[in-house]
Amino acid sequence: MGQAASLSPEQARIRSLAGCATQPPPVIMIYLDNAATSFPKAPGVVEAVKECLERTGGNPQRSGHAMSLQASRIVYETRKRAAALLNASDPSRVVFTLNATDALNTALRGMLHPGDHVVTTTIEHNAVARPLRALEANGVELTRVQCAPTGELDAEQFAAAMRCDTKLAVIVHASNVLGTVLPVAKLCAAAHARGVPMLVDASQTAGHLLIDVQADGMDLLAFTGHKGLLGPQGTGGLYIREGIDVEPLRRGGTGSRSGSDVQPDFLPDRFEAGTLNTPGIAGLGAALEYIASEGIDKLREHELKLTAMLLDGLEGAPGITVYGMRDAAARVGLVAFNIGDLDSAEVAERLESAHDIISRPGLHCAAWAHATMGTLQRGAVRLSVSPFTREGDVQQAMAAVREIAREAV
Ligand SMILES: Cc1ncc(COP(=O)(O)O)c(C=O)c1O
Repeated sequence: MGQAASLSPEQARIRSLAGCATQPPPVIMIYLDNAATSFPKAPGVVEAVKECLERTGGNPQRSGHAMSLQASRIVYETRKRAAALLNASDPSRVVFTLNATDALNTALRGMLHPGDHVVTTTIEHNAVARPLRALEANGVELTRVQCAPTGELDAEQFAAAMRCDTKLAVIVHASNVLGTVLPVAKLCAAAHARGVPMLVDASQTAGHLLIDVQADGMDLLAFTGHKGLLGPQGTGGLYIREGIDVEPLRRGGTGSRSGSDVQPDFLPDRFEAGTLNTPGIAGLGAALEYIASEGIDKLREHELKLTAMLLDGLEGAPGITVYGMRDAAARVGLVAFNIGDLDSAEVAERLESAHDIISRPGLHCAAWAHATMGTLQRGAVRLSVSPFTREGDVQQAMAAVREIAREAV
């Protein structure tokens, strides 16, 4: 891939969107790996991180001095915005974590004990599959409800997997490989009918779909800040409904009840031991402000248009196999495919080296999902869009994929 000598319109666009007009962009490219991490970030994110590092400086909640108070304000504002995005009843019920993986580990390891039973699906990311596997080795019993190769999950089958000793059900809101969106409200209702609380992995849906934890009946929801929320890496959170009991993963300083060596039992301090990633949270706050100002409906409309274009352009093209649901409305903005019997890594390499298109090949940290769709051996190539992807980017990507397919078959 060529390095920038002078500014192309594409570079200028990326640069201005990323808010770094005086810095050279890292590469000239069409970035279609937004399901791994979004790029560029929302307008205002870079400035908010910089402002926090350059001017705020203090440790939130740790002191009464002006710089600490300013840091506390930043954290609180971001918490309020995250709670508003999810329609959480109270901002303190959203606790900040390192990422979605940290949030999921907090919930799973904080709720499940030897002898408990947990229900999940066969399209989970390793952020769920691996902690569950470790818990299983420690005496937690696990039922994985089989999804169809398209990622669809039968609500009745899911309900039937609940037992009287089931302590938790955990599902991905949308698969990071197939894009399939699960009917989360229906599945929450099915779990609740058996008295089972539901943990939802919203890593691929926060910022993409309207989420209402109260209306949808989600008891716990894990999100990450750096994908659809368009914020910095190293940010994320866990929503915990009132009445749900979770043991914290970490204990330590919170700036509150400092005279006691017992972790505070109130939120968010119970789960926020140690200094927070205040610059990252400042950036996430700016990203959440951008998302609120644009509106999820508008962002989703753009995503749907691009996803439909990808599906129309790839499906049925000679030598190309597309995975997942045919209907864009049933998915988030990502499409996985293979070309003939080419290795997915080779396709991604050709897309990058010959066309400056960034995709993600392989297993996407989701071996269970690939086993479900029948691609565990070879993986697949994934293209994923963002609010900053243009129709022309998608057209160029499809033309490149079709060219590789013509050469291969
Ligand atoms: C469905 C899903 N769950 C969890 C994660 C983990 O997110 P993070 O790496 O931000 O912890 C990802 C990331 O790809 C994901 O796609």
